Amino acid sequence: MLKTPLARRLPVWIEELGQIGRTEADGLWRTPYTPEDTQAQDAVAGWMRDAGLQVRRDAVGNLFGRLPGTTRPDEVILTGSHLDTVRNGGKYDGGLGILAGIVMLAEVLETSGRPARSLEVVALVGEEGSRFPLAFIGSKAITGELSPEELEIRDAEGISIAQAMRGVGLDPSRIQEARRSDLRGFLEFHIEQGRILQDQGYPLGIVHTITGIKQARVLVDGRPDHAGTTPMTSRRDAMLGAAEMVLRIAEQITALGHPAVATTGRLQARPGGVNVVAEQVEFTVDFRHPDPAVLERMAAMIRGTCDEVAHRRGLGATLHVFLEHPPVPMSPEVQAALQASAEELGLKTLSMASGAGHDAMVLAGRVPVGMLFVPSREGRSHCPDEFTPEGEIVPGLAVLARTLHRLATV
Ligand code: HGY
Ligand code: MN
Ligand code: MN
Repeated sequence: MLKTPLARRLPVWIEELGQIGRTEADGLWRTPYTPEDTQAQDAVAGWMRDAGLQVRRDAVGNLFGRLPGTTRPDEVILTGSHLDTVRNGGKYDGGLGILAGIVMLAEVLETSGRPARSLEVVALVGEEGSRFPLAFIGSKAITGELSPEELEIRDAEGISIAQAMRGVGLDPSRIQEARRSDLRGFLEFHIEQGRILQDQGYPLGIVHTITGIKQARVLVDGRPDHAGTTPMTSRRDAMLGAAEMVLRIAEQITALGHPAVATTGRLQARPGGVNVVAEQVEFTVDFRHPDPAVLERMAAMIRGTCDEVAHRRGLGATLHVFLEHPPVPMSPEVQAALQASAEELGLKTLSMASGAGHDAMVLAGRVPVGMLFVPSREGRSHCPDEFTPEGEIVPGLAVLARTLHRLATV
């Protein structure tokens, strides 16, 4: 199905990239502006060169491989995904989209020659927000939405994005240079990260909508007391308040039915003594829905639950939303191009929503965007068990190459 000899290197690259940033303690965790990120960028840049692409890095650290077009080279069709991972992440989320893009640009060159428009593949910086509490750093820089104020956001060690950028030789004052106006489309190849394709027996998914996402930080304030001498009935225990809020929120969102989801992935108690009643607890809530009105209702429910529990338990509670992205429809034209390519190859596809967020939702604000999914085994992702067998990747590669060529041929 694929002509370029480079395609045989894809499984090797997936394994190799999947080892960069892996530690005993944290599993695979690759975050922006770190030595492992630089090591991964160097490896990807080498593979881009192997594919015959022109390689450059932009002011925020996004890495591009370019196949210049013939008659309209200043118009670019972009593919690719993010190079960073979540903590203890999988080796396909993000990385597969980059590596597939490199191989498929070589495939287009091998089978059809250079198209009219330029084709580029990008390794984007900082999609996950797993080091800094800011997601989509690289794609926001491309659309010009990344602000100097956001570069002051700090990681858990108190290092700002700007400081981290300087640490790898980037100048944060130049982020506006990463803004692009030459893009005429973006096509992201990604694992589904759910199990709909597997359960319904489809080899490929064409995304019609990316779900809306809000992420909030809840601070619960109580009173520190001695664990041994303070009667249970006279405590203002921030931990009990937080625990009840987390459970109640999960029950309420479950009652809404899928695709409504809410997740508390992080909770921290202060002062954190084994024999001290918690004075303060901070926890996160990531909640999502593809319908903006329902997402707003969910936000109100969550806020109401925190207030009610806090009031009843004599606690304080504040909720701060630090990330929000409305649901984003994918381009009908790009969806149709994907569908046409799949039909020509005799492959059936499922039109579906994405429960995961992606850089495509940021770029959709500026260019026609589409996403092509391949199945995730048992729907597992954001964990070491994330897996897609090579045989379930190849059909997607063929559709990706054909669609990239279609979008770049005008
Ligand atoms: O959270 C997400 O859905 C994506 O993996 N950043
Ligand atoms: Mn992810
Ligand atoms: Mn991803």
